[in-house]
Amino acid sequence: MNIQHFDDDAALSAALATRVLEDIVAGPSLVLGLPTGRTPLGLYRELRERSGGDRVPWSQVRTFNLDEFAGLGASDPQSYRAFMQAELFDHVSIPPAHIGFLDGTAPNLEAECRRYERAIAAAGGIDLQILGIGASGHIGFNEPAERLCARTHVAELEQATRLANAQRFGGDWRKVPERALSMGMATILSARAIVLLATGREKTDAVRGTVEGMITTQLPASLLQLHSRVTVMVDREAWSG
Ligand code: PGA
Repeated sequence: MNIQHFDDDAALSAALATRVLEDIVAGPSLVLGLPTGRTPLGLYRELRERSGGDRVPWSQVRTFNLDEFAGLGASDPQSYRAFMQAELFDHVSIPPAHIGFLDGTAPNLEAECRRYERAIAAAGGIDLQILGIGASGHIGFNEPAERLCARTHVAELEQATRLANAQRFGGDWRKVPERALSMGMATILSARAIVLLATGREKTDAVRGTVEGMITTQLPASLLQLHSRVTVMVDREAWSG
């Protein structure tokens, strides 16, 4: 794993935005895998600010987001799709048809997961997958467990995960859906390159385990050690605690 150190979130976000924009200029039909959460907010801010006035050729870029809550769709303000619209998609010129997203309102969620895998394959696979990491070492909704689903699947959410997401639901964890759709670790590991972001001291243990620990499904991010092109971008707090 290639570890890149930054003083803080702002420096990390600026560096990653530069990489993404250089990749788009070098290959305008780039396929990006994107995360939600607090960690990528700085990245999306930088991309918005640097894309003004059609300076960046977003028109051929394709995106696939990692996950979505079951029961929520684009029109639900708590959905991850709404988050992405507000933080990035509404501000750059990606054609809506190029935005790949799991539909939490699909009538058959298992079929929706299979559709997503086919859509990623039809786009030629993901070139650059950007990831956040949970304090528990989760990636997307691949939570620590004895066994993990390899591909895109419906995940039952632990109470701790629903608590961690309560802020989007008026602070009430009981309003957080009990299930979500998520890329699996094999979907993620199929990307040609991966960037894992970690900021803040609550991520220190998860980062150590990811970078230095044994590979275990109890720390799903540790499976990233199986990939040959992973960059871990960390700020000082996430590295040193
Ligand atoms: P965060 O979430 O970016 O809000 O810390 C990361 C994650 O849980 O994947």
